Amino acid sequence: MNKFQRALFSKTCASVFAVLAALAPLFFYASRSNQHVFLDIALFPGFSQMLFWLIAANAVVATAWAALAFKKRDLFDSHPGAMTAAYAITDFFTAVFCILNIVLLISGGEETAPVVLRGAAGLAPYALLYFAIVFFALFFPEIKHKIARVAIVSLVGVALVLGAVLTVYSPAVYGFVSDPMVLDTGSDYSIVFATTDEGTGFVEYEYEGETYRVYDQKQGKIESDSRVHSVRVPYEHLDNNSYTVGSMQVYEPYAYGSRSGKTIVSEEYAFTPCDGETQTWLCVSDWHTRNDLAKDAIAFLGDYDGVILLGDASPDLGTEDELVRYLVEFGGDLGGGTMPIVYTRGNHETRGAYAPYLADALGLDEFYFEVKAGDYRFVVLDSGEDKEDSHPEYGGLADFGAYRAENVDWVETLTEDGKTIALCHSPRFFIEEDLTDRTIAALTGIKTSAALTGHWHYCDLDTETYPGLPVFIDGGHKDGAFVASRVTLSPGGIALFACDDGGAAMMDETLPWLN
Ligand SMILES: [Fe+2]
Repeated sequence: MNKFQRALFSKTCASVFAVLAALAPLFFYASRSNQHVFLDIALFPGFSQMLFWLIAANAVVATAWAALAFKKRDLFDSHPGAMTAAYAITDFFTAVFCILNIVLLISGGEETAPVVLRGAAGLAPYALLYFAIVFFALFFPEIKHKIARVAIVSLVGVALVLGAVLTVYSPAVYGFVSDPMVLDTGSDYSIVFATTDEGTGFVEYEYEGETYRVYDQKQGKIESDSRVHSVRVPYEHLDNNSYTVGSMQVYEPYAYGSRSGKTIVSEEYAFTPCDGETQTWLCVSDWHTRNDLAKDAIAFLGDYDGVILLGDASPDLGTEDELVRYLVEFGGDLGGGTMPIVYTRGNHETRGAYAPYLADALGLDEFYFEVKAGDYRFVVLDSGEDKEDSHPEYGGLADFGAYRAENVDWVETLTEDGKTIALCHSPRFFIEEDLTDRTIAALTGIKTSAALTGHWHYCDLDTETYPGLPVFIDGGHKDGAFVASRVTLSPGGIALFACDDGGAAMMDETLPWLN
């Protein structure tokens, strides 16, 4: 054997490559929701699935080579050429798959990487199980020292018991993730809050001498399999009133009974509606997981009375956890449970396995509706996705064309009703030109004075594209910087002010009302 072969066949080298090869399918699988479709688009449908099984097979082969390095070293002397080829090919593929995983992680950008890494962490028990099986099948019998054997068996026993207990009981202290969001649904308020684990949700308040406890429930059955809770409360019950939110942790709802934990109740929140002659609304769009960076810009905007979220909280809603982290927690932090929030869905909230449940989770009937704020009115529109439904990125799971048409049918039913502003994620409203034309005609017909939008990740005021309807593009995250804005409504006009996370002003304009 030459020097290269000795290194290649060494127990250390074989073990390292076996571990890397075993971790490769885990990381590749963790990136499936965000990245695999791009491999399939570049090559052919099904390529990513085929590649996953190749990566998994490579892990098994690399494990077998590690076992040989420990147990059958005479093979290296008797067949050095064949063994060199076998080891070199496997190690080469292992290196390629590891590099591929790193490329997938980096190419997803800073907002996707944490999602992929959390997905990989969730798969860690499978990797541990694989390593345990390999260890006990191949290497444990080689350990002759009795104390070492007893210590290993004891450690594994403790780990198994601990794992079983943690599976049955959550280790986290049950609590609220943030203050609640009070969403204006157009017909009442939806108080939305998240807990650290699954459980029930309820809101308590007093109104006209009566005590109310309103649950997050469906036709009488209280929901308990979610971390996000939403409770609808009539406007008059909440306006200028105080309330608390509460939750009972539920480990498992049985058909008969349930296994539940403790019940928690929040501090009291004093809610003030936006109904004054002058109202200042905080506008935030396209924060794309950058909650803290957005807050840096928001800190320069001063006090506000309400919050307008213009969508694109995260790259997608693959899990409920992403909804909690990037929308519910963020909105709760900004509104503090004491002021109304108007939410406009971004195209990235239409993506991912959890996306179809977003409206239900937030307690919204629809993503297009109108909101009255004193003398002012917001017409909320939902631009849906920004590509054709047939685009391969949607995997046959998009039907936004028909949905956008419903949006437009609805906006055409609206009538003139005071000082009106449209809210829409996309500054171009809908990808279908005819639908956008109808929308602009309908909005200008009811004397809509401006549209507040996002999506483009820069701040601008477009007064030319749609004559009679100025379109404000709010800002959002771009290249590590953030622009947020505030919109002050008063009889004198619509004052737009935007600044970045360093406090530099990006916009300072006032638009007139059309009526
Ligand atoms: Fe967007």
